[in-house]
Amino acid sequence: MGGTPSDLDTWARGLADLNRALAAGRIELTEWQDQIAVLDSGIDLASLHSYLDFDRLTAAMTFPEKLAQTADPKFPDRINVDGIERHWFIRFFGMRQGGAIIPHVHNNMVSAHLVMDGQFHGRTFDREADMQDPAGEFVMLRPKLDDTLRAGQMITMSDDRDNCHWLVAEADRSFTFDVGVLALSKTRLYTLPANEYSMIFVDPTAEAQDGYGLVRAPVISFKECAAKFAS
Ligand SMILES: [Fe+2]
Repeated sequence: MGGTPSDLDTWARGLADLNRALAAGRIELTEWQDQIAVLDSGIDLASLHSYLDFDRLTAAMTFPEKLAQTADPKFPDRINVDGIERHWFIRFFGMRQGGAIIPHVHNNMVSAHLVMDGQFHGRTFDREADMQDPAGEFVMLRPKLDDTLRAGQMITMSDDRDNCHWLVAEADRSFTFDVGVLALSKTRLYTLPANEYSMIFVDPTAEAQDGYGLVRAPVISFKECAAKFAS
């Protein structure tokens, strides 16, 4: 994938096609994850910035808090995005050094997070099971990625792989470009309810101690999560 406008049109059409295929159930969740990673690999980031009007959309962001600020780019009108039969979005998430996408799991959605600028400490976990007991609600998480993500690198998530993610910016004006598709056919039914963004906040910092390498992560409110991971 090069950086000419025509290359980027090909990329954007590929992305729309991928979302169309997923929304119609023609590909598996993990195929969407694999294919968007291929689509985004080798993309010319400088060209992507101008293609998505990144500078104009993010110039006014000043990051008074450690939580992310967002902006929604648009594909050019010549890119056909009709016929994606689920709610979907493209979005920039930006934050200052120490800012965070606070840890959460998702119900019935997929997303991809390409680092546009800056650098992150990225952590992902597989969501092995949800549990409810007298002590409260928990998600059993299997640690996966725990590494630095630099510009051009990405993570993805779905119900089936890397459902939990947590990003901490390691440089000022660190940004991801996200693609998400929501309200997917339910390959898994969850008893834990998610918020309007299909998110459930968790604290994944407990030591794995069950003998199976799983972290017992309490479900916490947005307020509790922001206080612990972005204050
Ligand atoms: Fe997320």
